[in-house]
Amino acid sequence: MGPGNSQDSHSAQPVLTSGVTQLGRAVAAAVAAAAQLAAFDPSADPRVAERELGAFAFRWMLATLQRMGVLRHPGESWTIDGLRAHLGIVPKYHRYFHALLQALAAKGLVTVREDTVEASPRDFALTDFPVEIASFEARFRECFPGSAGLLDLTFAGLRRYDEILTGRIGMTDVLFHDDGPDLFGHLFHGSPVADYFNHLIGVAVRAAIVQVRNATPASAVRIVELGAGTGGTTAAVVEAIAEVATDVAFSFTDISFSFLRRAKRRFADSYPWVDYRILDIERDLEPQGFAAHSVDVVIAANVLHDTRDIEATLAQVARLLSPGGLLVLCE
Ligand SMILES: C[S@@+](CC[C@H](N)C(=O)[O-])C[C@H]1O[C@@H](n2cnc3c(N)ncnc32)[C@H](O)[C@@H]1O
Repeated sequence: MGPGNSQDSHSAQPVLTSGVTQLGRAVAAAVAAAAQLAAFDPSADPRVAERELGAFAFRWMLATLQRMGVLRHPGESWTIDGLRAHLGIVPKYHRYFHALLQALAAKGLVTVREDTVEASPRDFALTDFPVEIASFEARFRECFPGSAGLLDLTFAGLRRYDEILTGRIGMTDVLFHDDGPDLFGHLFHGSPVADYFNHLIGVAVRAAIVQVRNATPASAVRIVELGAGTGGTTAAVVEAIAEVATDVAFSFTDISFSFLRRAKRRFADSYPWVDYRILDIERDLEPQGFAAHSVDVVIAANVLHDTRDIEATLAQVARLLSPGGLLVLCE
């Protein structure tokens, strides 16, 4: 039975001590110990890779605008609204487009003055697309193998960038297709950063199960993963807790049904104590089948940033949690 199905009975008592729960304290200690044992390898630090990819991506974006026929000649000037209309940027990307021009200006690739944008006197864009892209990609993969997933995702978007901006193809159609590579998923598992944090989340949830079970031995430990998406974090967590998962009810939830379908195919056989349920954390919980204050542990890995109002979202999470329950948050 999933956590939200029971209105009941779970008698977890608040265990607040000076604002920090005993549960939180015990889990933090377990995570700190695990982090010492498996310290992050500094050579896997992805920030250099991210900076290089970012710099290249901005040049590619400018080159895309130039291929669309604008900002080609030094001094060429447009009002931002005029440029947007000329290019046919779809309304849902109007704010994004404005931010893009500001970002290009911050990199010195164009000049923005109030509501006008001007081509840079120097030609920064990629001039020989296929050759420059291929050589960047080869070097990047060799230097930063741990960031290959980020490269694949970024390049997939950049290859269709003009079509995305003008609404001829949806971003989700670019990123998700059943027969293509799992572009999105590789951000959340299989890279040094993702694997490191997923490991620690698994440690945290396992420690929480032990603590909650000690406090309330008669009840199942109820866990909800929010925005579980591609299951990258789920995979690490269910493996980490499998040994202690007797009497655990784990709900894999997401706003999107397609993720549930895929997760069920992937996890159902090995982890029969997992159920799969739609949950939009921004909407009322009860009509979605989740009773208030019914969950011992909420896992949210790279999801809460997706919501519109972080304070409202955190209030919703607090409402989902039982008194003294634990949010395991990774961003
Ligand atoms: C960046 S992905 C999450 C990554 C996930 N931890 C993984 O390993 O794949 C963000 C996820 O949050 C989901 N999401 C977005 N808004 C949501 C909401 N309001 N409530 C619940 N899930 C949401 C998305 O469908 C997506 O699967």
